[in-house]
Amino acid sequence: MNLAVIGSGGREHAICYKLSLSKKISKLVCIPGNAGTHEIAENISEDIGDFEKIYKIIKKKNIDIVIVGPEQPLTDGIVDYLKERSVRVLGPNKFASQLEGSKAFMKNLCKTNNIPTANYGVFDNLDEAKDFIKKNGIPIVVKADGLAAGKGVTICESADEAIKETKEILEGKFKSSKRVVLEKFLEGEELSYFVIVDKNSYHFFGSAQDHKRVGEGDIGPNTGGMGAYSPARMLTDELEEKIKKKIIEPTLKAMKNLGHPYEGFLYAGLMIKKNEPYLIEYNIRMGDPECQVLMMKLKTDFLEIIDSATKNNLNNLKIEWNKNKCMTIVLCANGYPGDYVRDKEIHNLSKITSDENNQIFHAGTYEKDNKIFSKGGRVLNITCSAKNLRKARDQSLVNLKKINWINGFFRKDIGWRAIKK
Ligand code: AMP
Ligand code: GLY
Repeated sequence: MNLAVIGSGGREHAICYKLSLSKKISKLVCIPGNAGTHEIAENISEDIGDFEKIYKIIKKKNIDIVIVGPEQPLTDGIVDYLKERSVRVLGPNKFASQLEGSKAFMKNLCKTNNIPTANYGVFDNLDEAKDFIKKNGIPIVVKADGLAAGKGVTICESADEAIKETKEILEGKFKSSKRVVLEKFLEGEELSYFVIVDKNSYHFFGSAQDHKRVGEGDIGPNTGGMGAYSPARMLTDELEEKIKKKIIEPTLKAMKNLGHPYEGFLYAGLMIKKNEPYLIEYNIRMGDPECQVLMMKLKTDFLEIIDSATKNNLNNLKIEWNKNKCMTIVLCANGYPGDYVRDKEIHNLSKITSDENNQIFHAGTYEKDNKIFSKGGRVLNITCSAKNLRKARDQSLVNLKKINWINGFFRKDIGWRAIKK
């Protein structure tokens, strides 16, 4: 089969890596891809927001199935566009993508379906928002309603800060929406829970914990993700049952009732408090960097999973995972998540073993004259799998040391809650 993957991050490299191992793959195309996907797929440089051009590539390359990695083309309706033209594609349509694309949509859906989530209010107006902030007290979480590339959420420790953030969003700090969602701060530990969904059923697709803050000990500004490990340490059978019954199933049922059954990967960002799950956010795609660890743990042929899902045949498939623990550490460019250095050559990548337990998934990289350069804030994902998490982390750190990239930094403490001193 011929597959196309849309995107250029570590997630898309990990997806391409796993697809490339399938016996059923004939052609693999990545649009636009990065220096890592270049090694295992045909990279085609194109604007992924231009659906007409994407469709032309898909036709020209005889693509059987398309996998959409990032949220932006999904919320812009790429699935609707391609399905109208009879292309098989895995992902939610534009309406269902509001689960991530609009926090107000997601919160209202929770409210009408009794899905546990933090108390909240949605505001277009500063005075009403101020009232809510006063009544709620602090800490309070201020969120931009629309997509904001992980930068739209601020946990505010004072009312003044909350008002300032709210005002900025209402005044148009983010292009996607001028609406604000204010939310009660939830204490607890975060867990990422993934499912893959077709019209007839859904399957567990792994658990992970990521580290969003830039600094060790989980301090400093939020990032797209500094590292992740799988499985998440808190996930017991009892907790999983609650996640399915209280969060996932009511959501899928609600989307069906709204006339837009969910299809694709669904990523629930949860806060676990006293063994009870609360929904913080939905993402309508795989996580990045969570996907990198899940692809290393996946045993079942990934192409077969995608094939089944796009035929609404998931209920006949068993998805198996290997027992190893897996970790990825993100190597970032100096300055990230603020303005960061670019176009810096990365040496030594060939010194790192590449096998089923060691992979380097590229994110913001490009290849020029057989050399590899950085171009993004998150540059490489050093991913290892081992009997336990400590070994997986130690091995990732050994690999990072070999790369020895002076233009970057990384967190040495990924998985600290799960790795006891
Ligand atoms: P979101 O984009 O909604 O996932 O928010 C980004 C991050 O902010 C989450 O991963 C949490 O770490 C934090 N966060 C968001 N909402 C809350 C909340 N209500 N209580 C505590 N932390 C939150
Ligand atoms: N790692 C967080 C995300 O993919 O949104």
